Amino acid sequence: MKKELTVDDFIKGIPKAELHIHIEGSFEPELMFKIAERNKARTRFKSVEEVREAYKFCNLQDFLDIYYEGAGILTGEEDFYELTTAYLEKAASQNVLHSEIFFDPQTHTGRGIGFSTVIDGIHGAVTDAGGKFGISTRLIMCFLRDLGESSAMKTLEEALPYRDRITAVGLDSAEVGNPPSKFREVFARAREAGFLAVAHAGEEGPAQYVREALQLLKVSRIDHGNRCIEDDELTEELVRRRIPLTVCPLSNLRLKVVNRLEDHPLRRMLERGLLVTVNSDDPAYFGGYINENYSAITRALNLTAEDVYKLAKNSFEASFLNEGEKAEMSARVDEYKNS
Ligand code: HPA
Ligand code: ZN
Repeated sequence: MKKELTVDDFIKGIPKAELHIHIEGSFEPELMFKIAERNKARTRFKSVEEVREAYKFCNLQDFLDIYYEGAGILTGEEDFYELTTAYLEKAASQNVLHSEIFFDPQTHTGRGIGFSTVIDGIHGAVTDAGGKFGISTRLIMCFLRDLGESSAMKTLEEALPYRDRITAVGLDSAEVGNPPSKFREVFARAREAGFLAVAHAGEEGPAQYVREALQLLKVSRIDHGNRCIEDDELTEELVRRRIPLTVCPLSNLRLKVVNRLEDHPLRRMLERGLLVTVNSDDPAYFGGYINENYSAITRALNLTAEDVYKLAKNSFEASFLNEGEKAEMSARVDEYKNS
């Protein structure tokens, strides 16, 4: 282990993958103002400081209201391109070698923006980022669970011509009252079309939603999943099947999923043998990108450099990279640790 480094420096330098990041949640206020001006769009805020001041959330719905408002500024293909490029540059600067990025087409198609505008902008940016920043990527298209299954099905149809650009489908937005069981058919259809599947579950919703995501949606990863540990049998199944959890510490703190980071279940999850990863969720809204998430949870739970190493290794194992890519990137984590 790199004895001369502080744990924080070890975190900054270690190669890692990010598996839970909503591209619309990386929309920094400065870029919001720039794009709003270009699009001659109005915002109700007068300054960057005023925007940040508004980011005081009591729960998931509070956050979602302001997150959809911000995303409403995105209009043209270049807006999606710039948003995605800004995130990828930042992620690469934090030694993220690989990122699996969520996007929410319904947030935009519902405002009359074409599906092709969204996917062309995002895809253009991830393609260019490989060469510019040396970061590899996959895209995950999320369905907004509060809009129901028929809207999700329509979105899936729109995505089919872009099948080669999208690795998986996911499920996000307001969780409670919108269980995975409502989305059985659209996920079955997506899997038939060759998409992998993930779902947000157990963030605000109960452990039962995690079980439903596994059994009914046949997901290969759970996003958040915090509440799974309330259910021993479910936890055992997740451990046995090596189903990854994409945990987001600063998101959990800001949305009051935990009152204090010291109460966060991540250490217990690791001790139970769960395949836990650390991610930023919506970095522009929750006060930090991936390294700030690693640092905050490390400090709160007194994690060691060995724990950080484990989390970074997990991030590649949990990714949708092929086995060769996983082995190659994972070896870079070992090289870093042993150098
Ligand atoms: N949960 C649900 N939906 C979301 C989130 C989240 O943390 N971030 C963006 N959309
Ligand atoms: Zn999320």
